[in-house]
This record gives sequence, structure tokens and C-alpha cells, in this order.
Amino acid sequence: MTPQEFLSQLTLNIERFEKVAAFLSVPGYLSWHEGFTLLSLAEVWPVEGDIVEIGSFKGKSTCFLAQGALRSGRGKVHAVDHFRGSPEHQKGGHEETAEIVESGSTYEQFRANLAAFGLSEVVEAIVSGSQEAAAAWSGSARMVFIDGDHSCQGTKGDFEAWFPHVTETGLICFHDYQNSHYLDGVTRFIEEEVNVHPNMRFLHRANSLMTYMKVA
Ligand SMILES: C[S@@+](CC[C@H](N)C(=O)[O-])C[C@H]1O[C@@H](n2cnc3c(N)ncnc32)[C@H](O)[C@@H]1O
Repeated sequence: MTPQEFLSQLTLNIERFEKVAAFLSVPGYLSWHEGFTLLSLAEVWPVEGDIVEIGSFKGKSTCFLAQGALRSGRGKVHAVDHFRGSPEHQKGGHEETAEIVESGSTYEQFRANLAAFGLSEVVEAIVSGSQEAAAAWSGSARMVFIDGDHSCQGTKGDFEAWFPHVTETGLICFHDYQNSHYLDGVTRFIEEEVNVHPNMRFLHRANSLMTYMKVA
């Protein structure tokens, strides 16, 4: 690489990172490590199909996944959320959310955040409960990101509902592993069921984001 080629590449790289770093300004629950991991997997994991997100809230993780899908040129992000918030977002919850308390939904903020980053075209919102959406969905997923109902039963329900839609060698990611609020929820489900599942192979951890590959 010549110095001139390096400098042109440097400018492009700065622009690429600048756009992605701006996703951190979207209110929500995702660290830089986690967001960058989702984006990278969505961009390069070599399996065909779409991406499904369970639990979009105001669109923070959706932006990272959508940018990865856009860069990959493969498929869309199906963002599944009833947008009514989880128990912790309701009045008095440990993550009480003004929009949920006042209007009962984060859907408007979700749409506005995707539009602000020019990502609306690559995202299809499915305004629905996750398990109802899975029953009605007929696509195949190369990646499913589970960040909806964080209870043990809720996580298990989402996993079982979406697992059949995932292509072999596709990815299933869980958020909030070992988050102190969800030790008896997501964490217990992962430790008791996912880590010993014969068709799940652990691949990677980034903060609380756990990534597995579906195997035969
Ligand atoms: C922790 S938030 C998601 C955070 C988001 N991924 C981010 O990056 O900020 C959980 C979301 O899951 C949604 N949710 C909870 N239970 C659900 C269910 N059974 N079906 C669909 N969405 C659900 C809530 O409405 C909420 O928006």
C-alpha cells in the first residue's frame, strides 16, 4: 500500500467509524463493544438470510444490526417488538421510561432514530409479541438477536420460537448475560439450557452479549 492509498483509506475508515459511533447517541441498552460486535457479525458472518431482532425499544441495537446488513448487501433486519416496554420500563420500574409512561409506546422514537441515520429501508418493524411474530414468520434467519422479555421463561419462549427459523451455522445472540437485574432470567436460561444445548456452540462474548452458532 502506498502512503497515498493509506491516507485515502484512513479518511474512509474515519467516516465509517464516525457514523457507527453516532449510534451510541440513541437512548437504549448497548455498549460500544456489544454494538460493534452485532454490526460486524451482521456484516460478515457468511450465511444467507435475514436478521431478526427481538426487543428494539428505541432502535439502538437495530441501528448497529441494520448498518451491518446494509454493508453486507444481504437481507433485512426484522425488528420485533410490541413497543409497549418491559416491566422495568413501566412506572416505578428500575428503567422507568418517560415515553412508555406517557404514551405507552417507544415506536415513534424507534422510527425517528432509524430515519435519522438513513436506515429505515433496511429495517422492517414487526409490531407484535415475539412468539406470535415467530409463529407467523416464514423467512429464514442468519442471525437472531434476543433482547426482549428478560425473564427465564420469556427468554426460553423466544429462543424456542425463533430457533427453528435459524439456518444451520447461523447465529443466535443473547443480551444481558450476567446483568445483575437478570441473573434469575436471561443468565439462568443461558447457563442451564443454552450452554448445554446439543445444537448450540458458544462462539464469543462481548460484555453481556453472548453469541452462539446453530450446529447440526
Ligand atoms: C431491553 S429493551 C431492548 C433494548 C434494545 N435492544 C436496545 O438496544 O436499546 C426490551 C424491549 O423488548 C420489548 N419486549 C419485551 N417483551 C416482549 C415480547 N414478549 N415481545 C416483543 N417485545 C417485547 C420491550 O417492549 C422493549 O422495547
